[in-house]
Formats: sequence, C-alpha cells, structure tokens
Amino acid sequence: MNNTILVTGGAGFIGSAVVRHLLNDHECMVVNIDKLTYAGNQETLEHEATHPRYAFEQLDICDRDSMAAVFTRYQPRAIMHLAAESHVDRSIDGPADFVQTNIVGTYELLEVARQYVRSRISAGDQDAEEKFRFHHVSTDEVFGSLGDDGAFTEESPYQPNSPYSASKASSDHLVRAWNETFGLPVVLSNCSNNYGPYQYPEKLLPVIISKAMAGEPIPVYGTGKNVRDWLYVDDHARALVRILNQGKVGRSYNVGGNEERTNIDVVTTVCDILDRIQPATDGRPYRELIQFVTDRPGHDHRYAIDATRISSELGWQPKESFESGMEKTVKWYLNNQPWINTIMAKNDKSGLRLGTSSPVPSAGGK
Ligand SMILES: NC(=O)c1ccc[n+]([C@@H]2O[C@H](COP(=O)([O-])OP(=O)(O)OC[C@H]3O[C@@H](n4cnc5c(N)ncnc54)[C@H](O)[C@@H]3O)[C@@H](O)[C@H]2O)c1
Repeated sequence: MNNTILVTGGAGFIGSAVVRHLLNDHECMVVNIDKLTYAGNQETLEHEATHPRYAFEQLDICDRDSMAAVFTRYQPRAIMHLAAESHVDRSIDGPADFVQTNIVGTYELLEVARQYVRSRISAGDQDAEEKFRFHHVSTDEVFGSLGDDGAFTEESPYQPNSPYSASKASSDHLVRAWNETFGLPVVLSNCSNNYGPYQYPEKLLPVIISKAMAGEPIPVYGTGKNVRDWLYVDDHARALVRILNQGKVGRSYNVGGNEERTNIDVVTTVCDILDRIQPATDGRPYRELIQFVTDRPGHDHRYAIDATRISSELGWQPKESFESGMEKTVKWYLNNQPWINTIMAKNDKSGLRLGTSSPVPSAGGK
C-alpha cells in the first residue's frame, strides 16, 4: 500500500480543511474524490490544486466501478469518508439525495474497500487488514436531541430526527456492520457543529455575515434558543487525522469543541465582532437586523458532546476557543468575498428558505 489517503467530499467545507491539513502537516499523497454537487467547489482548493502530492477525481461515490478503479490506481492506505448531502433543511425538502449518497454511497464504498483489502491479501499483502483504515465521518445529530443537561457519549442511543441525521445514522450502522461481519478495519467519528472558512454560504455563519454586510434582516429560527456545541473546522480536521492514525479499529470517537452556545448567542457574537471591525455606515448595531422566523420542522433543541474519549485516549484537544475562532471566521468571510460571490453565482439563489418553502432565506445550523 502507498502512503496515499483518499478523501471523499474533499471539495466541501470540512473535507477541504482535511485536505489542507494533510498536505501541510503530513507527508502523504492526498486524492480528493468529489462529485462537485452544489456544495463542492474546486475554488475552495485553488491553492492546493497544483500541490505535487494532490490529485483530484471528479466522481460519484455511488459509482462502484469508478471507485474500485481509484483504489486499484492509487493503492491507498486509508479512505476518509466525508462526502455527503449535509444540509438538514435540504433533507426536509428532498430526502432522496440523502438516502442515495449518505446510505447507498457509503454502502458502495464499504464494498469497494472490502474487495480492495481482500485483493491485497490475495496478492500476498498479509498485513493489509492491519494497515488499511476506513474512516467514516459522521455527526452528533444521529443521537437526537438533548434536554437542558447531559452530553452525548459514544454509548448514547441513536435517535435521529431529521432525514439528514437518519441517513447518517444508517451509514454509521453499515460501517459498524462491515467491521463486525467482514472484518473491515474501520474507525468512526461523530462531531458537533463546525464553523470556519469555506463553509457553503447557506449555512448559519456565512448567512449571518452576508446578511449583516448587505444591511438585510438576519433570520434566526424560532426563539434562537437551540443549543449547539461549536467546533472550529481546523480543530476537527486535526481530530480526524488523529483518529485515522491512532484510533482503535472498530471504535467511534465523539469530537466537540466544549463550546455550547444558543443560536442567538452565536448571532449576537458575530454582530458584535462586525460592529467592532466593520461598523455599519449608519452607525447602528448589527443586532438590530435580527429577525426571528418560523422554526425548522423537528428542530432539535440541544446537542452537546462529551469528548473525553478522544482527549484521554488520543490526546486531542481543540486549540481554538469560541471567541478566537469566531473572530478568525468573521475576518475570513469579510476578506474572501470573491469566493462567496463565485459560489453563489454558480448556484440557485432563489431566496426561498429551504425546509419550509417559505420566502425567507435559510439560517440553518448544519
Ligand atoms: N458541517 C458540520 O458541522 C458537520 C458536523 C458533523 C459532521 N459532518 C459531516 O462531515 C462531512 C462533511 O460535511 P461538510 O459540512 O463539509 O459538507 P459539505 O456539504 O460542505 O461537503 C460535502 C461534499 O461532498 C460532496 N459530495 C456530495 N455527494 C457526493 C457524491 N455522491 N459523491 C462524491 N462527492 C459527493 C460535495 O460535492 C461536497 O464537496 C459530512 O459527512 C457531514 O455529515 C458535518
């Protein structure tokens, strides 16, 4: 096997952070496999595109033959599987793509990886099972919603509530089963809300910033009291590579920032940073633009992650605090308006809020 890592969904938000981290801080070859759906953009990796250890394959993970050909060509030591349909509101409007990519796509990849390991063993590589890893990247949303106390551990029961989280939960179960039944060497991770540069502009942080800059109402679901645990995307990327390289086969790891905030806290934090670094021309605080809109159907009340396992077993800790990460993120979006404009120009900007078909722009969490 080569020191090559396949990253599915590498042209998306978290996948691109993983690609950057692998190229900058590790010695491996990185092959980015991405279908380039509305959420995947090559512009996100324009600085990495010519890196000598980087390759890009525009492919659908559901296409088994093409995926098998990629395994044969690159002989990877691992696959980090991030490709997914990821937006909860879109899963309410149209669950079919979520079932196809998140469940069927993961199944196809598991089968391709299983055949690959078998073929390596048949070819005389007796250690193929010890050397290879299938890392499945999932979400804390599979555990459902918490009350005001407690946190999700790796032993929390699965109780997904949205089509998105149900599709991710299904894929988690498939991955476990391929380990238990076929001995495929897998590791899993379930992570809380990520934020940071290069997030598709329909998600909460970029929406707040672009609405504030345009002087338009900043939409907040319901009463804004839903609680999420916020993690800076580069901290997640480091955690994922740590899990890949040091995680125990068959084990899952929760990843969180230990930074619980209500949605309204997040919005007001961003408004306050903007007031400081780019005040509105009329001098009014950006908070005055906040507008509460009808809640998302089935909106989970609270997620919180107990990240004790990854911290005690693998020595990972987030480096970024909520305050420092938010400041970096706001500055990045302000300084990278051309990236946002390019992405928005390529995709439908009908202005309809997803998940309710009401004419209000989306301010979804993830
Ligand atoms: N964003 C979060 O806060 C968060 C939190 C926990 C877990 N996750 C998980 O992390 C992963 C990445 O999330 P993200 O926010 O970066 O998503 P994203 O929507 O930004 O990126 C997804 C990428 O997958 C690609 N893709 C989609 N369908 C594909 C297919 N059939 N074949 C090949 N490529 C395909 C897209 O083109 C895109 O580049 C997902 O599995 C998601 O469930 C995300």
